[in-house]
Amino acid sequence: MSATLKFVTFLSFAIMVAPHSEADHRLPAPQNCTPHWADRFVVEVKWIWPKPKDLPESCKVEFEIRWTDKQEDVARVKHTNFTYYYLSKDFTANILELSISSKPLKDCNGWNESDPVKVNIKAPKSYAELVKDFRCFYLSNGSKCFWTPVDPSKDLKVYYRSRGKEKKDIQSLKVCEAFKMEGRNSCSLKLEKRRDIFVLVENETRMNTFEPKMEIYVPKMSINETEKYLHLTWRKPAVGPDGAWRFCVWYKECGNNKPPRCYEFSQNRTVSIPYNKCCRYEFQYNISTNKFNEDVSSDTSEVIHHGTTSFCISSANVVAIIIPIIVCFCVILSIYCFKKHEKIFGCTRLDPSVIKEILNLKQISQENQCAQDPREHTDTCTPLVPEKEKR
Ligand SMILES: *[C@@H]1O[C@H](CO)[C@@H](O)[C@H](O)[C@H]1NC(C)=O
Ligand SMILES: *[C@@H]1O[C@H](CO)[C@@H](O)[C@H](O)[C@H]1NC(C)=O
Ligand SMILES: *[C@@H]1O[C@H](CO)[C@@H](O)[C@H](O)[C@H]1NC(C)=O
Ligand SMILES: *[C@@H]1O[C@H](CO)[C@@H](O)[C@H](O)[C@H]1NC(C)=O
Ligand SMILES: *[C@@H]1O[C@H](CO)[C@@H](O)[C@H](O)[C@H]1NC(C)=O
Ligand SMILES: *[C@@H]1O[C@H](CO)[C@@H](O)[C@H](O)[C@H]1NC(C)=O
Ligand SMILES: *[C@@H]1O[C@H](CO)[C@@H](O)[C@H](O)[C@H]1NC(C)=O
Repeated sequence: MSATLKFVTFLSFAIMVAPHSEADHRLPAPQNCTPHWADRFVVEVKWIWPKPKDLPESCKVEFEIRWTDKQEDVARVKHTNFTYYYLSKDFTANILELSISSKPLKDCNGWNESDPVKVNIKAPKSYAELVKDFRCFYLSNGSKCFWTPVDPSKDLKVYYRSRGKEKKDIQSLKVCEAFKMEGRNSCSLKLEKRRDIFVLVENETRMNTFEPKMEIYVPKMSINETEKYLHLTWRKPAVGPDGAWRFCVWYKECGNNKPPRCYEFSQNRTVSIPYNKCCRYEFQYNISTNKFNEDVSSDTSEVIHHGTTSFCISSANVVAIIIPIIVCFCVILSIYCFKKHEKIFGCTRLDPSVIKEILNLKQISQENQCAQDPREHTDTCTPLVPEKEKR
């Protein structure tokens, strides 16, 4: 081939190719998108992508999967399939819509993203709540879930499996063999240690899939009293090493709230707090951890009482009890004196009803006030008498 011919061939090639590489092209959209449920939780979507002949060899393309409703990226994949799990909460009106588009990744001069294609994923069965208050707990020898059927007269099937979209997760599905306890149903989970789970509840026409949050029961707390301190000691939580848990405790001392304090223990799970023997204490606590796959926490414990306020003489009690008694005694004394003076000086007789009224007032004030704040006493008991005495 002569050099001229080579040049002409090159020139004609360049003329053919150049406009293409500079012009804008759209990548073709994915075709024949077909969703398929691998189980009740996992969807596989497959499609075909006709690669354009004139796409540069070096051009890498990826597929972007978006959630149409939420305008949210779900995934980007390089091959022509996509697998993900969807739970009942992800569906609005039984249909979930994804959009898939092909995107130039790199070295695709002039090639643009394709139009998105929509894929409608229909729920395997329509949603119904079916169960209420579904809760799962880690126990020392396994895990257990509890629930209440919405309609106890209807048959339900409950299944669980480890969370995820891998083949081994899909294959781990098990029946939750329920037995009834006081209107609640429960079943023990046979699981690899501490995996998060998916739950499927279904009857013939409806289903509900969800991811229950794992919880733990609050461990028991005991209180040991020494001269100046209360020692709060917790039992070991049912699972996990001691150091994994965070214990938060808050209490009332003589009715005053003490703010929550949180502790992480390495050994004996004991906290000492200053103890006022004249106070009644009310303790509450919870535990939580983030050291498992997901956060695990307990409910708030019941209120645990310690100590009592009665028969305890402290300076506060002296003020609260003794002073009002003295004040009231003074009131009675002054009324008595007033009556005596009346006789000695022969003043106009005081109407007995007035005395009665005074006594009544005093009695009422005694009932109302003696148990209350002493400051109010000095305000109410004392001014009452001088006013009457002035007459
Ligand atoms: C997805 O596509 C890749 C590459 O073609 C293939 O290896 C894989 O098995 C496919 N996955 C599914 C679930 O079809
Ligand atoms: C391709 O993308 C460029 C820049 O984003 C834009 O200017 C152009 O109009 C697009 N072409 C097509 C065919 O969409
Ligand atoms: C765990 O222990 C309790 C008693 O402590 C027992 O009732 C329950 O059946 C046990 N659960 C499992 C899964 O072994
Ligand atoms: C399934 O549950 C739904 C909702 O609770 C109920 O309306 C329906 O009758 C149930 N179907 C069967 C076959 O029990
Ligand atoms: C309380 O603590 C004291 C000293 O630490 C110990 O001797 C006693 O046995 C404890 N009592 C209880 C009930 O744990
Ligand atoms: C508990 O541990 C603390 C230190 O972590 C220690 O001071 C205390 O004596 C221990 N109490 C008991 C009863 O072992
Ligand atoms: C535990 O109690 C603390 C203190 O009151 C609180 O901040 C925290 O939210 C509680 N944890 C849970 C899981 O309820």
